[in-house]
Amino acid sequence: MISKTEIDDLNEQFRRAPSEDVLRWAWNRFETRAAIGTSFQGAGLVMIHLSKIHDLPFPVFTLDTGLLFPETSELKKRLEDFFGMTIESQEPDISVEAQEETQGPELWKRDPDLCCTIRKVLPLQDKLSNLDCWMTGLRRQQSDTRSDVDVVEVYVFDESTGREIVKVNPMAYWTREAIWKYIHDYQIPYNPLHDQGYRSIGCWPCTKKTLANQIDERAGRWTGFQKVECGIHTFMSKKVDFQI
Ligand code: ADX
Ligand code: SF4
Repeated sequence: MISKTEIDDLNEQFRRAPSEDVLRWAWNRFETRAAIGTSFQGAGLVMIHLSKIHDLPFPVFTLDTGLLFPETSELKKRLEDFFGMTIESQEPDISVEAQEETQGPELWKRDPDLCCTIRKVLPLQDKLSNLDCWMTGLRRQQSDTRSDVDVVEVYVFDESTGREIVKVNPMAYWTREAIWKYIHDYQIPYNPLHDQGYRSIGCWPCTKKTLANQIDERAGRWTGFQKVECGIHTFMSKKVDFQI
């Protein structure tokens, strides 16, 4: 599908290239078999805007867990108007109420990993089963666990069939400051919760304001648990063992 040499060359090239070059490469290679996944945070907004102004019409989707802040759901509508596009909501098989019936109330307080699996990871797997390329807003600066994110990565999507998926992170080298400057320069609608002290925003039960002394942008997520990732970026294994 894509060789290790090609991946290394691309990452070398894209380390210094503008993100639109990365987006254009992904479009030329995958067209609508690539899609942008976003939770409407800064990096995702910039990525969608760059795609728009460079005429790269990627489909855009969001994992709607049913537990998003009302401000986030409202933002989705504002963005659809602003960009003149439909953003697909990928939902879990079961509603929050059905989950309460089978797993008991407030699963996120007892077993957030299971809750994230049901409400994020499985829906994402469904979505990725119809794609060859998943584009994300992951950035190196976001947290320690993300400090080695590459622009182009290959993951094994299905161990049993060996099916692979290319993950593209065009925003990997962007700083938080550069993202916010871009958003303000182009007056892109953003989540009002950012102005209320939330730096990283996910589901309402698992998102707290980030304290001024917390350096890690994602420190307000799953406070009180060891958990630092919801699982969507960790359920697949990165391909390191390439056949040349
Ligand atoms: S998360 O793992 O904690 O949820 P974060 O909010 O930092 O991740 O976002 C990192 C990237 O993961 C986003 O830029 C986006 O590409 C993807 N992502 C996270 N949450 C969602 C979501 N709800 N829907 C679609 N993509 C998402
Ligand atoms: Fe459940 Fe919290 Fe994960 Fe959302 S972030 S799916 S509420 S555990």
